Amino acid sequence: MYKILKREDLAPSIKLFDIEAPMVARKAQAGQFIILKIDEKGERIPLTIADFDREKGLVTIIFQEVGKTTKQLGLLGEGDAVSDFVGPLGIPSHIEKYGRVVCIGGGVGIAPIYPITRALKEAGNEVIGIIGARSKDYLFWEEKMRAVTDELLVTTDDGSYVRKGFVTDVLKEVIDRGKTINLVVAIGPLPMMKAVAEVTRPYQIKTIVSLNSIMVDGTGMCGACRVSVGGQTKFVCVDGPDFDGHLVDFDEQMRRAKIYQDEEKRALLKFEE
Ligand code: FES
Repeated sequence: MYKILKREDLAPSIKLFDIEAPMVARKAQAGQFIILKIDEKGERIPLTIADFDREKGLVTIIFQEVGKTTKQLGLLGEGDAVSDFVGPLGIPSHIEKYGRVVCIGGGVGIAPIYPITRALKEAGNEVIGIIGARSKDYLFWEEKMRAVTDELLVTTDDGSYVRKGFVTDVLKEVIDRGKTINLVVAIGPLPMMKAVAEVTRPYQIKTIVSLNSIMVDGTGMCGACRVSVGGQTKFVCVDGPDFDGHLVDFDEQMRRAKIYQDEEKRALLKFEE
């Protein structure tokens, strides 16, 4: 069993857990994910690693309550435990000194962009961070992101904090400054990552996105997580989760993300009965 040592409610429906998982913490690297199961009969859900502490043997996960399993997870508290916590899975983000990089986190995507931002900063890059959420209440880890960036720009969809606009509006302004940008990394909802890739495409700025697709085994066996990248079929769990944003077929991913919508709704209704 993997014990929840800390729980923090970051925003409405967004929760943070520090999980005691020394073996995972020892090997975790920025960009990787875990698959957890609440109990014996639970659904396996992939969650990107938001942070890790090798010394203390802790792995931080952040999740948004959207369906049955995440709502059930959200009912757990400090001292509770989950039965399975497998990882780290996936290929770590490629970290090197690129020069000037922009790291973008949208909504709950602020969590997985954090360790990548930190790693890029530690590698000697000039890092501009952009974080955005639908409103002030949904924004978290502003200070943590500020600590690992040279400049942090914040935006909210409704203008309830700092400025009104999407992360893509801010990205356009950063590009318009005219300084070379060597890499953009964006994590957030699929439409956001697609929009970021469209902003950078005409400038040919290398753009990496991290996909969080439907997964079953997480080891490349079942095909549930497949994605078309540059016309080739890839598996998010073993070939990703990071991919070239200019090559990902986002429309297909958005369709695939909805495949089990009806079943998900039914499971949630049954759970809430
Ligand atoms: Fe089964 Fe990726 S989750 S192949």
